Amino acid sequence: MVTRTVHESDRTDTDLTDTDLTGARSASGAVLEVTGLAVEYVTDGDPVRACADVTFTLRRGEILGVAGESGSGKSTLITALTRLQRPPAVTTAGSIVFHPRDGGPAVDLVTASPRTLRALRWTSLSIVLQSAMDALNPVMRLGAQFADVLRTHDRSLSRDAAWTRAAELLATVGISGDRVRSYPHELSGGMRQRASIALALACRPELVVMDEPTTAVDVVMQRQILAQVLRLRRTLGFAVVFVTHDLSLLLELADRIAIMYAGRVVELGTAQEIYDEPRHPYTRGLRDSFPPLRAPLRRLTGIPGTPPDLRRPPSGCPFHPRCAARFDGCDTHLPGLVAAGGHAVACRLHDPAATGRPADTGQQDRAARPDRTAGPEGGAR
Ligand SMILES: Nc1ncnc2c1ncn2[C@@H]1O[C@H](COP(=O)(O)OP(=O)(O)OP(=O)(O)O)[C@@H](O)[C@H]1O
Ligand code: SF4
Ligand SMILES: [Mg+2]
Repeated sequence: MVTRTVHESDRTDTDLTDTDLTGARSASGAVLEVTGLAVEYVTDGDPVRACADVTFTLRRGEILGVAGESGSGKSTLITALTRLQRPPAVTTAGSIVFHPRDGGPAVDLVTASPRTLRALRWTSLSIVLQSAMDALNPVMRLGAQFADVLRTHDRSLSRDAAWTRAAELLATVGISGDRVRSYPHELSGGMRQRASIALALACRPELVVMDEPTTAVDVVMQRQILAQVLRLRRTLGFAVVFVTHDLSLLLELADRIAIMYAGRVVELGTAQEIYDEPRHPYTRGLRDSFPPLRAPLRRLTGIPGTPPDLRRPPSGCPFHPRCAARFDGCDTHLPGLVAAGGHAVACRLHDPAATGRPADTGQQDRAARPDRTAGPEGGAR
């Protein structure tokens, strides 16, 4: 069992372990409901199906981690959620329903007008990118950038008051307020990243979407930033979608984790479940690709092969060419997300119709798998 160190005391909701995994339950308390989302990149040849049938519900104040190998569609999902995608990306199906905190009407971000989206950005929905330089204007002092955002959404705010507020916001992420007069290039990489988090929080959004926000900083700064995100989440109550390829980081940060493979969510569960009892063979491979920090050492196995070309994804289960547990029909039948134990998984091992076994209640497990052909590396782990 993994021991969390960053935020045991920061958790606000120990009830985040139930089965609201596929959006099927009541939407009460939901800030975002994503249903059947599909995004493609239009190319001269076959389109790249970078997100397919992505469905999940994000609750208020919840941190949902999204993990997967490079090219699994994480950034595509983030830009689709925030409607910041640019051609050749096209949302071809699905909805992203945002529920405002004030009880106002829900908004489908996929069909919302540019005007509606502008009104929601920063105040309801904001984004932190991998490189802070992508978010910060290199030729403007930090204070001016914060003031721009603050005054766009509150016309009554004076310039002086906006700069004072900017200094306060920088202080919340551990940066001295007098840095409002600095240009981004005068800060360290970690400070820039924290400044971009403060900017994302400037208008007290309900949802902050973060795409690999700590990848470019060292491990010490990474932990400082994560601790600050958790502290701010506790005081401000925003929900987070946090994307990374680093599953171990999410185990410390997230309430729930969605595992993406080939543009699809293949497993969704609480962070603890994903670590202790991963159901999808890909999730197990990801988990077993890094050493546990505090649990007993175990053999690292990794995942054989490489992620598929999303212009021509494999037939059936997209993971089947790499899956040591595949069995008859995996190369022809595409599994959908089904409840398995306390979470949801898209793998035919957990589909009673495919295995002839009763539904997975979380009690029975791998010992009871059906006969299977050997995987590409010869046998199951
Ligand atoms: N502009 C584009 N045109 C065509 N294909 C693209 C474009 N941008 C991304 N893709 C493809 O979409 C797929 C998903 O890419 P995406 O950037 O979402 O992956 P990712 O999970 O964020 O990867 P990483 O961990 O490397 O950031 C990949 O196959 C990628 O090659
Ligand atoms: S067992 Fe079959 S359905 Fe499950 S991940 Fe492996 S190939 Fe896919
Ligand atoms: Mg990415």
